[in-house]
Amino acid sequence: MKNNIQIAIDGPASAGKSTVAKILAKKNSFIYCDTGAMYRALTLSALENNVNLDSEEELLSLLNKLTISFNHQEDGQHVFVNNEDVTLAIRNNTVTNSVSKVSAYKSIREEMVIRQQKIAESNSIVMDGRDIGTVVLPNADLKIFLIASVVERAERRYKENISKGIETDFDELKKEIADRDHYDSTRKNSPLVQAEDAILVDTSGLNIGEVVLKIENLIQSQI
Ligand code: DC
Repeated sequence: MKNNIQIAIDGPASAGKSTVAKILAKKNSFIYCDTGAMYRALTLSALENNVNLDSEEELLSLLNKLTISFNHQEDGQHVFVNNEDVTLAIRNNTVTNSVSKVSAYKSIREEMVIRQQKIAESNSIVMDGRDIGTVVLPNADLKIFLIASVVERAERRYKENISKGIETDFDELKKEIADRDHYDSTRKNSPLVQAEDAILVDTSGLNIGEVVLKIENLIQSQI
């Protein structure tokens, strides 16, 4: 294999991207970059600092003051904003329901893409998000577009929430996922679309091990 390998994993919310990406990164000793966490970190910071989410300028000015970094710890990857650990906070519902709006702004995306490309510059990497294969790493060695049905994704998220003790209404969750899909796929700037050279992997009915195996076979055969 060549030195700096780039694997791009895109797809809608809750398709299993981050779980699969983390396992692949660990197995291959690549770094893992969760680009959704970067948009979430900005959203959290905006909410905490009463920044108007309708103002692209205010959000960009806030982003320019933020250092968003990742740090691998024993219990997994942690996300930091200006050295504050926000790993758990960026997953809360308020952030989840506001992040689509924040991530739709052109100037915000441009700045995030620059940061993401820098992270990928000197490392073999598995990066997951929505625009990795299309915009961030257009020359990635392997591009995967991971999908699963809305019902299956809602079921996964539901189980995850319940196991974390987060009270959840299943139908509401299903609606939120469908709404977020729609918003992310129809936004003007870098909508969620499959790159022409990405390989579609439907994870409906597959467990994580089966998905990982499928992608590992692709890594072996394509890279
Ligand atoms: O994968 P996630 O749910 O953590 O992503 C959070 C939001 O950020 C989601 O609404 C889509 C957006 N996002 C994006 O627009 N581009 C990326 N590369 C990653 C995430």
